[in-house]
Amino acid sequence: MSMSGPFREGDRVQLTGPKGRLNTIILASGKQFHSHRGTLDHDGLIGLPDGSVVENSAGVKYLALRPLLNDFVMSMPRGAAIIYPKDAAQIVARADIFPGAKVVEAGVGSGALSLWLLRALGESGSLVSFERREEFADVARGNVVGFTGQDPANWRIEIGDLVERLPDAVEAGSIDRVVLDMLAPWECIDVVSDALTPGGVLLCYVATVTQLSRVAEAIRGSGFFTDPESNETLVRGWHVEGLAVRPDHRMVAHTGFLITARRLAPGTELPQPQRRSSKTSYGDEDVELWTPGAVGDRTVSDKSLRRRVREAKAGAAASLARENGDADEVELEVVEVEGELLSESPSESGDDRND
Ligand SMILES: C[S@@+](CC[C@H](N)C(=O)[O-])C[C@H]1O[C@@H](n2cnc3c(N)ncnc32)[C@H](O)[C@@H]1O
Repeated sequence: MSMSGPFREGDRVQLTGPKGRLNTIILASGKQFHSHRGTLDHDGLIGLPDGSVVENSAGVKYLALRPLLNDFVMSMPRGAAIIYPKDAAQIVARADIFPGAKVVEAGVGSGALSLWLLRALGESGSLVSFERREEFADVARGNVVGFTGQDPANWRIEIGDLVERLPDAVEAGSIDRVVLDMLAPWECIDVVSDALTPGGVLLCYVATVTQLSRVAEAIRGSGFFTDPESNETLVRGWHVEGLAVRPDHRMVAHTGFLITARRLAPGTELPQPQRRSSKTSYGDEDVELWTPGAVGDRTVSDKSLRRRVREAKAGAAASLARENGDADEVELEVVEVEGELLSESPSESGDDRND
């Protein structure tokens, strides 16, 4: 299958018809593309440059383009949910997938990420993809062969659980990069650290913040990696037409989080001790995030805070007294509180205006 030049037999071609409707065909001499709007001869496309417009038997026009990998993964058959192109691009960059890299991924799912990884690691690299479910592996293989036109010699799928299969499937310390896209990547940290070469990169893609927290703490707690870094990628399309230039109304808001860490050399301890992993540990920075100043509220002086506590208590006492029918007591309580307030220094009443 050719990726550029004039269309040839065996090429996958995406036809954009009226109203933007998409159809993908694989060119075969003598075949026809049928729609309720007429027929289009494949032979009429073979030999034309990529990006040509052709007419079918009823004069309906179609734009013919080879699908980009981006187009292909979004329309290919799916077993499991795929990694979207925006995340795949970040994975290739943040996991530093280079030509010649030895890469392990799990699970293979529908093979979307496998396609991006194979493209980035090139013919001199190799990819071993692990998948628990054989039928998903079949979908992935079908998609990879469907897009590339071959069963890549440098790609192998291992059926089974990564934790059980990885130690026998690859030589310890021989893998440059590991990418995990699965429900529970924290269960795989030990086997992955054995497989990775010192300096190698582990990247996990997870959908929820609870998974993110759990895998980050597992990576930290193992002591085999640098402190993990996390992020997510938001891509917002724009409508650009004449003077109507604005963000698109709709976007894919959330897909997943990426977390990366690098394998330390065996026996290495980081120069600065990493924070101890604990489900309940918070740093000063985290606490600061919840203070009124950090969330945009005005900060409160200690004196003002004490006064507010007294006011709140007085309010509570007044409510209780009112409930009990002790109206005199209510008045008395309030007067007492006000008296206490007035007895405070004049500078404190100044605070009141400033905070
Ligand atoms: C979301 S899918 C992966 C999608 C894939 N990255 C893609 O872009 O098409 C997650 C896959 O991981 C597989 N899986 C989950 N845990 C696994 C494990 N421990 N070992 C191997 N495969 C696993 C599941 O069966 C599932 O197919």
